[in-house]
Order: sequence, then C-alpha cells, then structure tokens
Amino acid sequence: MANLNLMQLLSLALVLTASMNATASATAVKAIYWIDQPLFPASSINTSLFTHVYYAFLAPNATSFKLCVSNSTNITLTNFITTFRSRIPTVTTILSIGGSNATPFSLIFSNITTRATFINSTISVARAYGFDGVDLDWEFPQNSDDTNNLGSLFQEWRIAITADAAITGKPRLVLTAAVYFAVYFSVSDTPWTYPVTSINQNVDWVNVMSYNFHGSWNNDTGAPSGLFNPTRNISVVDGLKSWIGAGVKPEKLVMGMPLYGMTWQLQDPNVNGIGAPVVRPDPGSNGAMAYFQVVDFNKQRNAKVVYDVDTMSVYSYSGSYWIGYDDPITVTAKVGYAQALSLRGYFFWAAGYDTNNWKISTQETKQIDHSEQEYACKSASNSVLDWKWQIKVEL
Ligand SMILES: *[C@@H]1O[C@H](CO)[C@@H](O)[C@H](O)[C@H]1NC(C)=O
Ligand SMILES: *[C@@H]1O[C@H](CO)[C@@H](O)[C@H](O)[C@H]1NC(C)=O
Ligand SMILES: *[C@@H]1O[C@H](CO)[C@@H](O)[C@H](O)[C@H]1NC(C)=O
Ligand SMILES: *[C@@H]1O[C@H](CO)[C@@H](O)[C@H](O)[C@H]1NC(C)=O
Ligand SMILES: *[C@@H]1O[C@H](CO)[C@@H](O)[C@H](O)[C@H]1NC(C)=O
Ligand SMILES: *[C@@H]1O[C@H](CO)[C@@H](O)[C@H](O)[C@H]1NC(C)=O
Ligand SMILES: *[C@@H]1O[C@H](CO)[C@@H](O)[C@H](O)[C@H]1NC(C)=O
Ligand SMILES: *[C@@H]1O[C@H](CO)[C@@H](O)[C@H](O)[C@H]1NC(C)=O
Repeated sequence: MANLNLMQLLSLALVLTASMNATASATAVKAIYWIDQPLFPASSINTSLFTHVYYAFLAPNATSFKLCVSNSTNITLTNFITTFRSRIPTVTTILSIGGSNATPFSLIFSNITTRATFINSTISVARAYGFDGVDLDWEFPQNSDDTNNLGSLFQEWRIAITADAAITGKPRLVLTAAVYFAVYFSVSDTPWTYPVTSINQNVDWVNVMSYNFHGSWNNDTGAPSGLFNPTRNISVVDGLKSWIGAGVKPEKLVMGMPLYGMTWQLQDPNVNGIGAPVVRPDPGSNGAMAYFQVVDFNKQRNAKVVYDVDTMSVYSYSGSYWIGYDDPITVTAKVGYAQALSLRGYFFWAAGYDTNNWKISTQETKQIDHSEQEYACKSASNSVLDWKWQIKVEL
C-alpha cells in the first residue's frame, strides 16, 4: 500500500477540486447556515461563495405548535431577507426550524392535526418574509415512531408546499432537513432509521451533519469530522455510505462540514497524536473553537500542524493544547469525495466561523495557500486513492 506524502495529498486534493469545477451542475448546492446572533451580520456573507443561505433558527411554540416570531426576530428576519434580495449573484434563502435545543417535535409530529398546524405555520412565515424554502433540523428523533411520523410529515409538507405554489403562482418552496451523520441511529436502546422512501420522494435534499464525531465528551484526542476512521465506523465516509447503502439517492445528499475545531488539554504533551489521552476540553468555548480562532492560535503559539492521512484530518498542538479541525486542504479533499459520490453538494456550519477572508469557503476558487504554516505529514496505512476505489466498488 502506498504512503502519500504531503505533496501527493495536495495534488490529489487539487485534481479532485478541478473535477468538481468541471462537472458542477447548476443545481449543485453550496450552502451555509447563518446563526441569528449579533457577532456576524448576514450582510457579511459573500454570496459569490454560496448558492443557499440558511437562517438558523426558528422554533415552534410548545402549545400552539406554530412558529414563534418575537418582535426582535421579526426585525432580524426582515433584515435577513432584505440583505439577500438585491444581491448579485443571488442566493436561495431557507428558513431553518429547530436546532440543537429541545423542541417539541416528537409531540407535534405524532398527530396529523398538529402536523398540519405546524406545516401551515412554516409556509405562512416563509411566505410572509419572502424565504425560498424551509428546513427542519430535528436533533434527533428518538425511536421508530418518531421516524415514521417524520416520514408522514415530509409527505404532508410536500403536498402543502406544492398546493401553496399552485395557489400563489410562486415557485414551490424548497424543502430540506438537517440529519444525523448516518441513516441509522444505533447507539441508543431504541435504534432507528430515517424514513428513506419518504426522503427520496418528498424532500429536495438532506443536509448530512458529517461532524461532531469526537469532542469534549471523549477522553482522548480525535478527528471531529474525519473523512475516514480506521478504528470505528464513525466518519464522513461511513455515514455517507450508510445513507447511500440504505437507498437514499446521492442527489438527495448534501455533505456537512464544520468551520470549527474541537480542543483538548493533553495528559502528556509528548503524547500528541490521534488517540492521545486528554485531561479536559480546553481552550475555546467548552472545547470548541471557530476556524479563524484556530488559525490565530496556531500563529500566536507557533503550533505544530499535522495532516493525518488515516483520518484525512488536520490537527495542531502547542504545549499541552491540541486542536482537531478542518482546513482548506481537508475541505478540498472532502468536496472531492462528495463529487466522486455524485452528491448534491456541501454545506458549512456556520457563517462567521471562517477567517475574515473566507479561507475555507473559497477553497474551490483559490490555490491552496500553505505558505503560512509548517506542515508535517504522518504516513498512512491506507492510501487515499485506495479508499476512493473501495467506496466506488462497495456502493
Ligand atoms: C467574494 O468572493 C469572490 C470569489 O472568491 C471574490 O472574487 C470577491 O472579491 C469576494 N467579494 C468580497 C466583497 O469579498
Ligand atoms: C404559545 O402559544 C400559547 C397559546 O397560543 C400562548 O398563550 C403563548 O403566549 C405562546 N408563547 C409564546 C412564547 O409565544
Ligand atoms: C410587538 O410589536 C407590536 C407592534 O408591531 C406591539 O403592538 C407589541 O406590543 C409588541 N410586543 C412586544 C412584546 O413588545
Ligand atoms: C414586523 O415588523 C414590521 C415592521 O418592520 C411590522 O410592519 C409588522 O407588523 C411586524 N410583524 C409582526 C408579526 O409583528
Ligand atoms: C390530534 O390532535 C388534535 C388537536 O390537538 C386532537 O383533537 C386529537 O384528539 C389528536 N388525535 C390523536 C389521535 O391524538
Ligand atoms: C393556514 O391556515 C389558515 C386557516 O385555516 C388558512 O387561511 C391559510 O391559508 C393556511 N395557510 C397555508 C399556507 O396553508
Ligand atoms: C476512555 O473512555 C473509554 C470509553 O469511551 C474507556 O473504555 C476507557 O477506559 C477510558 N480511558 C480512560 C483513561 O479513562
Ligand atoms: C457501525 O457498526 C455498528 C455495529 O455493527 C452498526 O450498528 C452501525 O449501524 C454502523 N454504523 C454505520 C454508520 O455504518
């Protein structure tokens, strides 16, 4: 088996990028979620880099089951839409509902009447502000009743947005959903699978959250969003393979990438590879750091930056601090894989986490800049090319 050195890795990444550009179709999705917070105005999003911008998030009222729009949210939603209405190039705006906070989705979706109330409200709010689509981010269904109800919800939602388009004479609202990295949720006592048939028939695509594989809850270092994982089947590729293997059409799948890293304090600064024992999550906010902060950290502390070919991820360390993250090189490789699998596209979580010159987000259009950092590269047990071949054969 061949070992890749860094230059080979870079060339591969560039070849994959070139193929993405050559074959990218008009319907390719390059999306980003914008979080409703004052730190990063939506107007700072460069629409040359994205096709779709998601507003995150609205939530349904727990008793009326309709979307809550407070007066301050009213202003934010109005400003958000106004920002993008006149932008060239244009972007599609999507209203995302849910998020990682607890939402009463299980209850609402268990009953056809309350589903209808919810669906009606999402369409009314999306149309009132001028959104082009709606998105559901349910983290996560808990059992197979939930996923059966989710299948019904998608079907009824699709019927409702189709009817709405006919009545209003406007283009149909786009319908998407953010989903777990794998089609199966097998770690709980009540394993479940997403409603594959309903997704294929009713949803425009799902945003696969191919990240948060390793974090503050672990007692060792690891790749938060590794393309591969040689020791466990928790990786971008394992998750996407489960989706495609279960029968979801590749054009219904959009691959998620984090614009942030996960951090740990090492037990022993001299034991600093993937799988090194850690003491606690640190530095950053509960063990998470935006990419621009990682870049600052690496520069200020003169951190060692290492590409791990086994996981196709990058990490840096300085003293006892260790950060696993994605950068323009790993993102380029991931986008190449998304293209090799004929996926619909990719999305980022979240706007404002990239550097202020959009270093990661522009990975497609810029030559990879590796002048600022010193790289080391671990030898690989599997070459990236072997892996690509394996994915193609197995699917
Ligand atoms: C937006 O991104 C495009 C493509 O990378 C670039 O040419 C342009 O200068 C950027 N615009 C701004 C305002 O940064
Ligand atoms: C939720 O809906 C209930 C019943 O319609 C209403 O009384 C309550 O004020 C709403 N809560 C919020 C936060 O809007
Ligand atoms: C929200 O705004 C409306 C007018 O647009 C006003 O009547 C209402 O009192 C406001 N609600 C709150 C909670 O400020
Ligand atoms: C939202 O704000 C606009 C003014 O910007 C106002 O006309 C409208 O009534 C408000 N809507 C709600 C639901 O408060
Ligand atoms: C569904 O919800 C409606 C409205 O809340 C209620 O009247 C009805 O009994 C519920 N149906 C079931 C089967 O729970
Ligand atoms: C939502 O329900 C109301 C009341 O039944 C109705 O007037 C409205 O047209 C519905 N809106 C949509 C988008 O279906
Ligand atoms: C780390 O966690 C794993 C399970 O996630 C456990 O098997 C192992 O013993 C733990 N190691 C230490 C040093 O606590
Ligand atoms: C990983 O393997 C476990 C155990 O065989 C299985 O239950 C799970 O579905 C697999 N996950 C993926 C994403 O393939």
